[in-house]
Amino acid sequence: MSLTFAVVKDAIPFWWTCAALILAFFIFRLFTVPAHLRHLPCVPVLPLLISYLSGEVEDVRIKRHILPFANQRGEGIVLVWALGRWMIHILDQKLAVQMSENLTLYPKETPPDGLLLWRFIGGSNVLMTNGDIWKKHSRLIRDAFSLSIPVDQFTSLAKNLFTVINPPSSSTDTHTVCWSELAQHYALDAVGSSVLGHDFDAIRSESVFVKEYNGVMHDIANPLYLIAPFLERIFPRKKVIDRMDSLVNRFKKLLLDKRTDPGDDMMTFMLKDPEMSDTELRDNIVVLFIAGHDTSAGGLSTLIYFLAVHPEIQEAARAEVLRILGPTADPTLASLSAQSLPYLNACVRESLRINTPISYIVPRTTVTGVSLGKYYIPPKASLIYNIYAVHHNDGTWGDPNVFRPARFLEAEDKSTITTVLKDSWVPFATGPRQCPARNFAIYEQRALVVMLLREYTWTLPEDSIHKDGLKNAFSPFALTLPYDLNITFTKRKD
Ligand code: HEM
Ligand SMILES: *[C@@H]1O[C@H](CO)[C@@H](O)[C@H](O)[C@H]1NC(C)=O
Ligand SMILES: *[C@@H]1O[C@H](CO)[C@@H](O)[C@H](O)[C@H]1NC(C)=O
Repeated sequence: MSLTFAVVKDAIPFWWTCAALILAFFIFRLFTVPAHLRHLPCVPVLPLLISYLSGEVEDVRIKRHILPFANQRGEGIVLVWALGRWMIHILDQKLAVQMSENLTLYPKETPPDGLLLWRFIGGSNVLMTNGDIWKKHSRLIRDAFSLSIPVDQFTSLAKNLFTVINPPSSSTDTHTVCWSELAQHYALDAVGSSVLGHDFDAIRSESVFVKEYNGVMHDIANPLYLIAPFLERIFPRKKVIDRMDSLVNRFKKLLLDKRTDPGDDMMTFMLKDPEMSDTELRDNIVVLFIAGHDTSAGGLSTLIYFLAVHPEIQEAARAEVLRILGPTADPTLASLSAQSLPYLNACVRESLRINTPISYIVPRTTVTGVSLGKYYIPPKASLIYNIYAVHHNDGTWGDPNVFRPARFLEAEDKSTITTVLKDSWVPFATGPRQCPARNFAIYEQRALVVMLLREYTWTLPEDSIHKDGLKNAFSPFALTLPYDLNITFTKRKD
């Protein structure tokens, strides 16, 4: 009796206590390893939380928290808290191959509801689908990529870039430009005509696609909404959604124009397939737009940065290019091959290793319980192949944080370590779902850097924010994109 009385009398503190308990329960739930994953070695959560709150980017988090924990414990599989979700990171190359090879056992995971990113990308595309639908998309895309690599186009776009780096009207030979932006414009124009079937002319003009896309990606990356995607439902960001829809409408318009005015690009190829629905076409053009330019742009920023801070490597690459191609001949598929330019190719590979453009893949899931390495992985787990970690493994690389292209050439001499390095160099992932555009992307990098090496020498400006190491922007996609990277180009005389 008295107890009931006390409760009624203290009604307000009682409800506060309940609320506090419920909140405590949710916080506890948010940070407590679920029972079915408790047998896995777990990276300490508090440092990860602090890392997220302080805005650390993915590559830094992997290097500071995930790799040291895994190395110290000698683990190739670790459990990682990622903003309220639990991800199993695969850092062991052999286990990653095992996971990547079997698409039935480890299909791609359907992403959680709510995140605007997935509303933008959609689910009916080559990146996110599984099974027969994926096979249909993949076949079309692989066929299209096997046709030819547009080296001539890469070359002519490089020439467009020259007119932006040093405008013909300018009287000096030295210019500082924001290279990370120019690299993005170049990469977009490079996929524009041949893949998306649209000339964005992003290098020479201000493309609305670039502007709207960068705006949308910036909004999507709002940390508050990434941590708590349910806010998207409670406080929908109408302006952001409008902007996203407006960009998607541009893509739809582009497709519509293609129907009446087809070209010989990949989208035309897809449009001709009667089995492709409008939604599938829309989702694929968005994926090809993102996958096709941000990755390449990140790679090009990284490569130009490391050649800027290592003038001796830049000079060695230039000497090889001048020896093989001479001062003016336009590059061709043959003259750009790895055999033709081994040192330059090693530079491209080293740059894709050290600041790998996609630090880890879209999560896979388990349909049934499986055993992977020494661990049992329960059904419905989320698995991530941590490419960045594989590229920074001390045991494989010795000095993973040093930019040293020669490591790939040394490896060729000593056949014993060749296979280790070859298998551990995986910027395009591995297995049936590895990047279908890897050749396109590699030739794109080689073509542009060949053109730049003959036209300019370049350095990092004195006041660069990258003076103490290359910095990447925060990305909700695990993309490794250097930002505000200014480079000073000087036109060569001879
Ligand atoms: C340096 C540049 C690039 C890098 C490092 C890269 C890396 C990757 C990686 C790691 C994946 C696997 C993703 C996963 O499994 O979740 C992938 C998939 C993919 N990439 Fe790339 N990529 C690059 C350029 C491109 C370009 C230029 C295009 C298109 C024009 C492209 C189109 C795709 C597509 C469509 C997939 C999905 C394949 C599938 O799921 O079957 N990528 N890429
Ligand atoms: C994937 O694993 C399942 C179950 O172990 C097996 O039946 C199937 O043959 C495997 N598929 C491939 C492509 O290895
Ligand atoms: C890059 O250079 C431009 C001028 O060329 C300058 O306005 C800008 O502040 C520089 N940005 C950084 C991050 O150094």
